Amino acid sequence: MARITGSRAGSWPPAASPGRATRVAGDRHNLPVMPGVVIVGAQWGDEGKGKVTDLLADRTDVIVRFQGGNNAGHTIVRDGETFKFHLIPSGILHSDKTCAIGNGVVLDPRILLEEIDGLRRRGVDVGNLRISANAHLIMPYHVLLDTAGEMKLGKLSLGTTRRGIGPCYADKALRLGIRVQDLLDEKILRAKIRTALEPKQQALRELSVRRRKLRKEAGEGADREGGEQAIEDAPDPRLDLHTMTEEHVSYGHRLEPHIADTARLCWDALDAGKTVLFEGAQATLLDLDHGTYPFVTSSNPIAGAATVGAGVGPTDIDEVWGVAKAYATRVGAGPFPTELNEDVGRQLLERGHEYGTTTGRERRCGWIDLIALRYAVRLNRMTALTITKLDVLRGIDPLRVAVRYRSKEGAILDSFPYHQSILHSAVAEYEELPGFDADIEGCRKEAELPPQARAYLDFIADFVGVPIRLVGVGPDREQIVWLGEEPTLRAA
Ligand code: IMP
Repeated sequence: MARITGSRAGSWPPAASPGRATRVAGDRHNLPVMPGVVIVGAQWGDEGKGKVTDLLADRTDVIVRFQGGNNAGHTIVRDGETFKFHLIPSGILHSDKTCAIGNGVVLDPRILLEEIDGLRRRGVDVGNLRISANAHLIMPYHVLLDTAGEMKLGKLSLGTTRRGIGPCYADKALRLGIRVQDLLDEKILRAKIRTALEPKQQALRELSVRRRKLRKEAGEGADREGGEQAIEDAPDPRLDLHTMTEEHVSYGHRLEPHIADTARLCWDALDAGKTVLFEGAQATLLDLDHGTYPFVTSSNPIAGAATVGAGVGPTDIDEVWGVAKAYATRVGAGPFPTELNEDVGRQLLERGHEYGTTTGRERRCGWIDLIALRYAVRLNRMTALTITKLDVLRGIDPLRVAVRYRSKEGAILDSFPYHQSILHSAVAEYEELPGFDADIEGCRKEAELPPQARAYLDFIADFVGVPIRLVGVGPDREQIVWLGEEPTLRAA
């Protein structure tokens, strides 16, 4: 069967790739180094990466997030208790593991501290959390600019999470960013904020005038969302240099015990033969370079970016596990060839509780898209696939899987088109497969799955050319089925 015969399917952590020299931990120990494993979203996000990370974290020593910010939302259900994370790596529920926020992440310190406090209140030990001193900070003006940018685009807006992600990464590229380490030096912090703030105040002032005018035209009672209020009623106290500096110095005091050289931490772990799990946020089709630009996020959620965002080399990565839902969802605007606007779409939305963890927005739902998934498999060079939420498909008959697109001109497209106009107008064409009626939430073994569910999984694995190793059959961490051999515990 295609899904369990991948060349590197086997024990956990997997052996280093054949043909590659085994890395050694130095002359003294001469230990074979355990692999680095990347987890990536294979669709448009919200595939259940948190649950997969949480499960694999059992078999791992270090979990590091390598990109994105609190635009992400990971939900983990443990013993009936629900945990939602935006910034902290999903592995935090394992007190014996080191969890790191890598240099590639952009973080809002206020949100991070709220998350730390929330976990502490629930009795979760966050002593093993490490934050890269080089990670960039989402500042209050980034959040306001994100909202302002979306308002300016109006009907053409991207549907961002309005968490300041894009403006923060833009400042990073402009060399105007504030980094975590800057929190520890008030003088540097103040000077950097001053430099970064000035051009933004101007942009926000212009928008405030424009917005006020629009509101007047629309009538004073017009509703305003989120950050819009702040933009209109400038000067906003959050944009005051003194207030912002003081506030961030105090964040620095609280975060200081966690600030570290997280790249070094990863090297030390790898060199000591430990396993490092690189946790991606968002997903392949939201990748800034390879996704459905401009309807993408502002970072690179694909596996290759784990090296940059965590500070390791490409040869430190041995395995790439992609996570895909048994159907497809997308939040925000942008092309989605298999979107369903009728009954089945509604059914998926409600049964799958497809509402954003971060924004609460309804997710757009559709059939699984194997053209897009095969593209994600190749871009990430996945070694294994995890299919989540298979249980949500119960009772839907027939099941449809997109196997090609048809262009406006009638041409058949059997690979993901690079041209945005072609993708925007592409119509998905499907293969129909029989559905299943049985409740699969209690299944724990492959043989317990109904034959139709197994045939569905086989079809996916054969089409995209990568073995499926794990299937999610319900929200709880126990509700999974390993296909083939279950990874053995090899954490140090
Ligand atoms: P941003 O990352 O907030 O700038 O949003 C850009 C696009 O990425 C929007 O379409 C968002 O809905 C989408 N997006 C960002 N983070 C996530 C996520 O964690 N899951 C799903 N979509 C996301």
